[in-house]
Amino acid sequence: MVVKLEEKEKVVMSEFLSQKPKLKFLFTGGKGGVGKTISAAGLAYRFSKEGKKTLLVSLNPVHSLSSLFGQDLTGGMIKQVKGAPNLYALEVEIGDVVERYKANISRRLSEFLKWADIPMDPKPFIDIATTNPAFQESAMFDKMMDVILEQGQEYDVVVFDTAAVANAARLIGLSKIYGLWLERMIESRKEALSLRVKLSFRKEKVMEEIKKDPMMADLLSMQDRFTKVKNVLLNDELTAFFFVTLPLSLPIAVVKRFIKMVRGFDIPIGGVIVNQIIPKSIAETTTNEYIRNKYKEQLGYMAEIERDLGPLVRSYIPVYPGEVIGVEMIAKVSEDMFSWIPDFLDELKLES
Ligand SMILES: Nc1ncnc2c1ncn2[C@@H]1O[C@H](COP(=O)(O)OP(=O)(O)OP(=O)(O)O)[C@@H](O)[C@H]1O
Ligand SMILES: [Mg+2]
Repeated sequence: MVVKLEEKEKVVMSEFLSQKPKLKFLFTGGKGGVGKTISAAGLAYRFSKEGKKTLLVSLNPVHSLSSLFGQDLTGGMIKQVKGAPNLYALEVEIGDVVERYKANISRRLSEFLKWADIPMDPKPFIDIATTNPAFQESAMFDKMMDVILEQGQEYDVVVFDTAAVANAARLIGLSKIYGLWLERMIESRKEALSLRVKLSFRKEKVMEEIKKDPMMADLLSMQDRFTKVKNVLLNDELTAFFFVTLPLSLPIAVVKRFIKMVRGFDIPIGGVIVNQIIPKSIAETTTNEYIRNKYKEQLGYMAEIERDLGPLVRSYIPVYPGEVIGVEMIAKVSEDMFSWIPDFLDELKLES
């Protein structure tokens, strides 16, 4: 798959961030298990080190911040990360979010039925709305909007560790659909309201009805909130979406597809992070045949990455001898994201 890039020259992470001094909302995406969480943590750690009050938010249904930091960050509340001043973490509890979202929708529906004089039990409607398979994602999206609008005021930087590609993609896709849905809802609500006062033919009367209508007020406030978030998400001074890949076929394909899609939604691309790279120095000195073979295979994929995504590659992360756990390891990842370069980059054959 060919991804056309507008960028010509490679801009590494440190340069990229210095070009974007107002950057506030960062996202990491990519295939499952490629290193989205460690990359998000590495970025967040860097900002916190610079003295910026930084919040790392996990929107994953299955959290990993607690195990990554080796600290209890559960409970759905913002907690300070021990050993990293200025760094805070939040594992969003999907259960709580869904419950609150459900309660909200129930309240809206009941109010509406009351207002419309429909003597009906709202429960069946609520059940239909909240058992919809997309409901969890809508609830998560709603929570992300909350974080952007609320914590965005209090923190200098917010880094979102989003779930594997499907979820993150839908999260982005939802923002467009959500906006369209709101517009349609508001239009049809207006129509319904003008029918209600049709006999009067008076515009002021319609406006009066619109003001009194609780559903309309709700829709308008949702639209206002959504517009604010959309303006943030589409602002390339404020927001950047990073794609994490491994030097392997499938994760590269996912990143390419992802980039295309994100471009389609006009969401600003931060760049690509290549993780788990085997250095040449290790491959050449090891007697382990598996690693030597992996290294050879890696050269082909690295050439593909440089050829197709080169200018977007901001960071390279080497493979470490063990799992990334604890603040010290995160500090190391963070440092590598801003300085480490593979020792074989010049030798790659980049046929086009
Ligand atoms: N460069 C590396 N060297 C060694 N281990 C790594 C490296 N990068 C990631 N890991 C390990 O691989 C696992 C997956 O990393 P991480 O959790 O960041 O991926 P993810 O993309 O967030 O996964 P998921 O899709 O499950 O959320 C972790 O156990 C992490 O410690
Ligand atoms: Mg993760």
